[in-house]
Amino acid sequence: SRLSALLGPNGRVLIVANRLPVTAKRHPVKKWEYPSSSGGLVSALQGIKDVQMMWVGWPGVSVPNETDQTVITEELFKRRCVPVFLDEELMDQYYSGYCNKILWPLFHYLGLPQEYKINKAKGIKSQFEAYTQANQMFAETVCKIYKEGDIIWCHDYHLMCLPKLLKQYNINMKVGWFLHTPFPSSEMYRALPNRAELLEAVLKADLVGFHAYDYARHFVSACISLLGLEGDLDGIQFDRRIVKVDAFPIGIDAQRFTKALEGPKVKEKITEFKKLFAGRKVILGVDRLDMIKGFLQKLLAFEKFLEKNEELDSGYKVVLLQIAVPTRSDVPEYRKLASQVHELVARVNGRFGTLKATPILHLDQTVDFDSLCALYAITDVALITSLRDGMNLVSYEYVACQESNKGVLILSEFAGAAQSLGAGSIIVNPWDIAEVADAIKRALDMPTEDREKHHRHNYELVSRHTAQDWAENYVCDLYNATSKAPLRAIH
Ligand code: G6P
Repeated sequence: SRLSALLGPNGRVLIVANRLPVTAKRHPVKKWEYPSSSGGLVSALQGIKDVQMMWVGWPGVSVPNETDQTVITEELFKRRCVPVFLDEELMDQYYSGYCNKILWPLFHYLGLPQEYKINKAKGIKSQFEAYTQANQMFAETVCKIYKEGDIIWCHDYHLMCLPKLLKQYNINMKVGWFLHTPFPSSEMYRALPNRAELLEAVLKADLVGFHAYDYARHFVSACISLLGLEGDLDGIQFDRRIVKVDAFPIGIDAQRFTKALEGPKVKEKITEFKKLFAGRKVILGVDRLDMIKGFLQKLLAFEKFLEKNEELDSGYKVVLLQIAVPTRSDVPEYRKLASQVHELVARVNGRFGTLKATPILHLDQTVDFDSLCALYAITDVALITSLRDGMNLVSYEYVACQESNKGVLILSEFAGAAQSLGAGSIIVNPWDIAEVADAIKRALDMPTEDREKHHRHNYELVSRHTAQDWAENYVCDLYNATSKAPLRAIH
C-alpha cells in the first residue's frame, strides 16, 4: 500500500486514543478477558492493513493491583496495545467529568452543564486539571515506546493537550491530531473556560484533521476569533509555522462485512432472524445510548408513525428493533437518559402492543459481530436520528450489508454521514417528529426500483471510500506535513 511504501518496513504508526480497541474485563475463572471495544473510532481503525500499528490507550477498567497490571500489560502487548492505567478518581474527573460532561456535550451543541456555568467554576477547574494530568500520562507512555521515525496519530477530544506535550518532549516527532466528533461553531466553542489553552495545544500538531469540511472551518474560525491568529483552510499561522488543517471523511472496511455475510455463522443467524420476524417489517436502530443519538426523538417519531397508521395493526406488522449499546453509565446524564428512554418504550409498547407482539424491541446490550451483520442484512429500514454526530458509521455498516435486501436508510441531516450518503438516503431533521414519522412511512412504502437506486448510490460510496483510504490519506499528509514549514503570508 501507499502507506507501507512511504513508511518502509520498520515505520510504525502509534495510535493514541483514550479507549483501546480491546477492553480488559474481569472474568470469574480466567480472571481477565479481552473483548473488543465499541464505538466508531475503534471500528474504523481496526480495518487498517499493511502498516505496523501500536495502540496506546486506557484498557477500559481501573486496575489498582500491580500484579494485574503486569498481566494485562503482557496480554495487551500481544495485541499490539500499550495500556495507560488511570485510577478511578482520575477517570471520574478526566473521563466522566471533563471529557464527557463538558467537551462531549459542548462539541455536540448541547452546551455546558448549567450548574457548572454559574457557581461551580471550581468543578470545571479540577476536572480540567485531571484532564491535563491524564493527557500527561498518555504522553509519558507514548514517549516510552517512541522510536525515531514513528508517526504519532492522536485521536479525539480526550487528548487535545497531547500534541503540545509530545512536541515538548521531542520537537521532531511527527504528531497528528484527529477529531471524531463535530467541531462546533466558534460561537458555541467560545463558552469553554479553557478554550484558548486547548486550541493552542492542538495547534502544536503537524496536521489537524476532521471528518467534515464544516468542522475544519469552525476550528479555523475559532483560532482566528479566539486566538487572534491568521489563517484559512490552507493552514493557520501559529508559533512561526503553518499548521495544516483539513477534512478527511472516514469510511469502513466494507469487505469485512460482505465477507462475513458469506460465512456459515452469519447465514445461520440470517435464517434464524428471518423466521423470528416473518411477516413483519423491521426498522433497525443501533446506537450507543447517548443523548447525541436522538433516542427520545426517534421514539416519539415512531409513536407518531404508529398513531397515523393504525390500519397497519402496527404492533404486529412493523417493529422498531433498537440495539442500545450501554455507554458511560458513570455519568448521571446518561443514566437519566436511559430511564427516559425506558419510560417512552414502555408507553409506546403499552399503547400499541397486542397479545401477539409489541412494536418496539429495545435491548440495552451490545450484539456480537455475527448477529449485528445478520440484523443489518435482514432489516428493511435503518433509522438514524442523531442530533449531532461526527460521522456515524452505523449508516455505512448498514449499507455494506444490504446488497441483497436494498433496505432504506433514514439519516439525520446532523450526522456527518449525511454529506456522503445524502443522495442515497431519506434525510430528516430529527427534531421534526412529524417529518421523521412520514419518512418511516415513505421508507416502508418505497418501490423496489427507487430502493435499488438509493442503495446503489450508497453502496458505491461505502465500498469505494474505505477506512484504509482514510488512514492512508491522513497519514501520508501527516508524513509530508513538516512542522518547520517556512512562514508565508496568508491572505
Ligand atoms: C465516540 C468517540 C470515541 C469513543 C466512542 C465510545 O465515537 O468519538 O472516542 O471511543 O464514542 O465512547 P467511550 O466513551 O465508550 O469510549
